[in-house]
Parts: sequence; structure tokens; C-alpha cells
Amino acid sequence: MKLAGSRIVLTGASGGIGSALALALCAEGAQVLAIGRRAGALAELQSHCTRLPGRLLPLIADITRDDGRARIVAAAREAGAPNLLIHAAALGDFGLFEDSDGARREAMLQTNLLAPMALTQALLPQLRSHAEAAVVAIGSTFGSLAYPGFATYSASKFALRGFIEALGREQADTGLRALWIAPRATDTAFNSAAVNALNRELGTRTDSADDAARQILAALRGGARRRQFGFPEKLFVWLNGAFPALVDRGLRQALPSVRRHARPAAPVPPPASLTTTGAHP
Ligand SMILES: NC(=O)c1ccc[n+]([C@@H]2O[C@H](COP(=O)([O-])OP(=O)(O)OC[C@H]3O[C@@H](n4cnc5c(N)ncnc54)[C@H](OP(=O)(O)O)[C@@H]3O)[C@@H](O)[C@H]2O)c1
Repeated sequence: MKLAGSRIVLTGASGGIGSALALALCAEGAQVLAIGRRAGALAELQSHCTRLPGRLLPLIADITRDDGRARIVAAAREAGAPNLLIHAAALGDFGLFEDSDGARREAMLQTNLLAPMALTQALLPQLRSHAEAAVVAIGSTFGSLAYPGFATYSASKFALRGFIEALGREQADTGLRALWIAPRATDTAFNSAAVNALNRELGTRTDSADDAARQILAALRGGARRRQFGFPEKLFVWLNGAFPALVDRGLRQALPSVRRHARPAAPVPPPASLTTTGAHP
């Protein structure tokens, strides 16, 4: 996929991975309609783009709201119909499912799944006005490997992957492609102190936001339909598909650590020796 000259709608542009990706895309010469809710973060991002060959158009919009999505669609049309839509906005959460909050679950499913679906549908006519276009979901390892302590997040990312895969198959006889690009743990504000502590304890490797953006850029250029970053993440995702009982057993070993970090006051056994797949969103 050629990125120079592309017109891109990017949600989550004010976030850690999204802002690094927006800069990388502008450096490639793309025009990026950069969506977020925090005006300050978008203004700062724009100031970093001024000397780059591309163009960044900041837009404050809440993707979970009808009026927010309507403004994105109007701004995209005005900017000249996008050929690339990248869904990077998401909410995370870490904790035991039994402790989870219903309102937070709904907000996560709205943000991580229903809003990207609605925005994709609303932008399809503009995307399909190009001979070649793509919808990209920034997924997660946990969209292929469900992890204890991340039940709602895993559910939202599994469902997002299902949507993207079905969309790609439904559009297989058109010029529209649907890509799933799954970063591994990345150092951004997305992860709470408890998640970072769990990752440290489990020895989970993390990428910087710039590394993640570089890998996303490479995946976009290559155009592969599915891309999982990181080793051993790739191996565990494959193993979970082929032999899920093995992953069940591995994650059983990580459970005491998950419980301790999810609910610090709870009396739980000390950490087992950890040779399992680590935690991260
Ligand atoms: N960080 C990781 O470890 C990790 C690992 C794998 C995958 N990912 C995935 O990578 C993507 C980016 O994550 P990140 O680490 O960059 O997260 P982040 O720094 O927390 O950024 C999240 C972004 O989502 C936006 N957002 C949330 N709710 C929104 C709403 N209702 N309307 C509009 N924008 C909304 C935020 O905008 P405002 O802040 O302006 O509200 C922000 O730009 C996510 O899809 C995440 O699931 C992250």
C-alpha cells in the first residue's frame, strides 16, 4: 500500500500509539485526519507535523456519539474522501471479571467495537470511491488470545477481529481490504500501574510507541490481511488457535500474579515460576 499522498482517517490520534503513527504517516507524506477528544494533545501533535511533508488535520470528536461520527464523516468528505481508515481508539481495563463495572464494560464495547463498526459503515461510500482502499483495525494480542484479568478487553478485541475478518471477506470482490494489525504490549498511558507491574513480574516484553508505529507502518506498506507483532506473542497466538488447552495450562500458572495485581489486598498464593505467555493489552 502506498502511503505518500494517501488520505487517512485515524482515530486514537491523541493517544500513545496513535500520535506516533500520525507523525510517521505525515513523515511519509500522507494527509491525516487526526481524531481524538483532547484538544491539547491534538494541538501538540499538529505542531510536530508542521515541518513534515504530509498534513495533519486535527478533529475533536467522540467516536461513540452519533454527532461525533457525523462530524468525522463531514470532515473526511471535505478533506477529499479517505482511502484509508485506521481504528486506533480504544479503552482498556484490568481487573477480575467478577469485580467489573457494567458501565465500564458498555463504554469499552462501544469504543472498541460498536463505534468502529458504525464509523466504518458511515465512511464506506467515501472509501469505495477509490479503486483501492483499506479499513485497518489496530487490534491486540488479546484479540486472539483471551487473557485472565482482561475479559471485557479481550471480548471487545476478539469481536473487532471478527468484524474486520468478515468485512474483508464480504468485500473480497471489491477494491476494499480489511486489515487486522495487532501490536504487543506498548509503553503508553493505556496501561495502568497495575498492568505495568504485572508485565514486569511476568517478564513481558514491551515496545515503545515509536516502535509500534514503525511496525504498523511496515504492515500497512506490506498490506498483509493479518499481522501480529512480537515473539513469543506470535507463537502463543498460533498455539492458542491450534492447542488452546496448552495455553490454558500456561495461563493457569500466571493466575496468582494476575489475581494479586488485579486485587492487591486479596490473599493469594505467591507467584509461581513463570514460563508462560506474559500479560499486556
Ligand atoms: N498500549 C498497549 O499496550 C497496546 C497493546 C496492544 C494494542 N493496543 C491498542 O493500540 C491502540 C492504541 O492504544 P494506545 O496505547 O495508544 O492507547 P492510549 O494512549 O490510551 O490512546 C487511546 C486513544 O483512544 C482515544 N479514545 C478513547 N475513547 C475515545 C472516544 N470515545 N472517542 C474518540 N477517541 C477516543 C483517546 O482519545 P483521547 O485521549 O483524546 O480521549 C486516545 O487517542 C488501541 O486500539 C489499543 O487497544 C495497545
